[in-house]
Amino acid sequence: MSDNGALAHPIVQGRNLHKVYRLRNTRVEAVRGVDLDIYPGEFVSIMGPSGCGKSTLLNLLAGLDEPTEGEVFVAGQCLGGLGEGERAQLRRRLVGFVFQSFDLLPLLTVVQNVEFPLALVGTDRKTRRERAIDMLSQVGLTGKEDAVPDELSGGQKQRVAIARTLVTGPDVIFADEPTGSLDSVTGSDILSLLRAAVDESGATVVMVTHDEHDARVADRILRLRDGRLSTREAA
Ligand SMILES: Nc1ncnc2c1ncn2[C@@H]1O[C@H](COP(=O)(O)OP(=O)(O)OP(=O)(O)O)[C@@H](O)[C@H]1O
Ligand SMILES: [Mg+2]
Repeated sequence: MSDNGALAHPIVQGRNLHKVYRLRNTRVEAVRGVDLDIYPGEFVSIMGPSGCGKSTLLNLLAGLDEPTEGEVFVAGQCLGGLGEGERAQLRRRLVGFVFQSFDLLPLLTVVQNVEFPLALVGTDRKTRRERAIDMLSQVGLTGKEDAVPDELSGGQKQRVAIARTLVTGPDVIFADEPTGSLDSVTGSDILSLLRAAVDESGATVVMVTHDEHDARVADRILRLRDGRLSTREAA
């Protein structure tokens, strides 16, 4: 737990979270009673074997999916008590996402992709361009501003996706296997960027990974097995 854990309120809380998927006549209990508290300024990894419910849990915590039972609180707000519009607002204001598939907008240039979330929150054109250019330099992509995503390597695309996530200065970043499709060198760049968001900007990161080595960049590792958390430990 981070040093300020005892003083601060959790920024993300899960209470008795369950998620059941129903497919024709089968029933999959992907998450089975998870309780967790994540504190501001922590970097937490969620680890576990394929199919144990990591992505499902992350999507519940991020408000991208609804639990079958239980509650998620983000910055003290109960997501279940919010309408879809209010939840979208909260996500836009506080939360950033990094997925394994980068889902960049293919018809926009690199700099336009990074500006996009700033446009959504109404930042003016000039400020938004300046912040996007600055963010791209922080992820080592100066010179690629006017390229389109198809002209980039996988690692470069992932860095654009990270720049797009970080440019709004989110309080909480949810990342699902952000290094999954990258070679180890590029993967460690991505981990450093997430680590810097915590250490230099005070963000909170919740990262799903199945890689022990990647998980060690975190302050704390949560282990998920068959939809349940087992031990907590320091990284
Ligand atoms: N939309 C869905 N409909 C039905 N079942 C699903 C759905 N999404 C996930 N599942 C099932 O829920 C379980 C947990 O899936 P989840 O994607 O959370 O696992 P994971 O730990 O992220 O795995 P991986 O490491 O392979 O990404 C699996 O048994 C999966 O088949
Ligand atoms: Mg997954």
